Amino acid sequence: MKAITVEPKKIGTAQLMDIPEPGMNEGSVLVQAVAVGVCGTDVEIAEGKYGWAPPGHARLVLGHESLGRVVDPGPSSGLRKGDLVVGIVRRPCSGPCPNCAVGEWDMCRTGLYTERGIKEIHGFMSEYWRIEPEYAIKVDPSLGILGVLLEPSSVVAKALEQVGLIGRRSFWEPKTALITGAGPVGLLAALFAKLYGLEVHVLDRMEAGPKVDLVRELGATYHSGSVKDLDFEPDTIIECTGVGQVIAESIQKIGANGIVCLAGIGHGGAIASSKIADVAASAVLRNNVIVGSVNANKRHWYRASQYLAKADRKWLAKLITRVEKPENFMHALKRTPDDINVVIQFSEI
Ligand code: BGC
Repeated sequence: MKAITVEPKKIGTAQLMDIPEPGMNEGSVLVQAVAVGVCGTDVEIAEGKYGWAPPGHARLVLGHESLGRVVDPGPSSGLRKGDLVVGIVRRPCSGPCPNCAVGEWDMCRTGLYTERGIKEIHGFMSEYWRIEPEYAIKVDPSLGILGVLLEPSSVVAKALEQVGLIGRRSFWEPKTALITGAGPVGLLAALFAKLYGLEVHVLDRMEAGPKVDLVRELGATYHSGSVKDLDFEPDTIIECTGVGQVIAESIQKIGANGIVCLAGIGHGGAIASSKIADVAASAVLRNNVIVGSVNANKRHWYRASQYLAKADRKWLAKLITRVEKPENFMHALKRTPDDINVVIQFSEI
């Protein structure tokens, strides 16, 4: 079968190639890939900056934003042939650490977790994949190809849950949310914050184009300047850019008692060391919490399905700005400024 694979930490090694069909050791449910979303992490892996192949292998099958159709449900999954499913990304560490032991693999303490398509287990960019029944999430068939948005939605559901949990340390009635970055995670965060009833603001570099339109269609406010120039202090900021300057300004802009949730993964962009104490002082004097949030556990996948079920399908559909064939994977891995979610389609929905 065809698969998009890469030799992690080596630039320019991504290839569409023939690999053997997955073995039963990868799970009792056999799935035909329908579509796989391409995110910043996939681009980083393809650029040789991130990712780990399975032990004993040189190459890793890419892809963690999956959507597929069950071909063989196996003996005990409760799934049926033809069901649409998405695969959970992370697997617990082998210890397991206490968090992994209770199903909170997203909070793994050892860092020895594995992740499909990212860290030591093959991903979903292959014509067929297998999965353990307990890691297959059934997708509402009416979502169709939009089911591919479930993985980024799970990441957002976790981030919002974290903010809610932390907020309850004191009286907490948030009104305004700022989302920095209008990529898929940022726009899904805006959607979910809106469904939650918040006044939502989204900030991104783009001055016009589909991102701006999508934010306005949500009834949210779009900003294209810098965080420091905003004329309000948000109760929460969901930081989805991973850009140093945006992060530093967010920490200084957040309102009193407010929570900055860092959900973007970036590199570099160090701020001058003299500024770190200023940034910290602002957090201390205003009881701010700066929290990192990564990945998602089953609770978040479940919540994400609930959020997606409530969302306007036409709006969601506009998040998928490009659908590419597997043979055009190189093109899919290159971002244009107006791209939101690029999807590689392996078979008809
Ligand atoms: C994925 C997460 C993953 C993280 C770190 C993100 O792109 O969506 O599931 O935990 O990368 O590897």
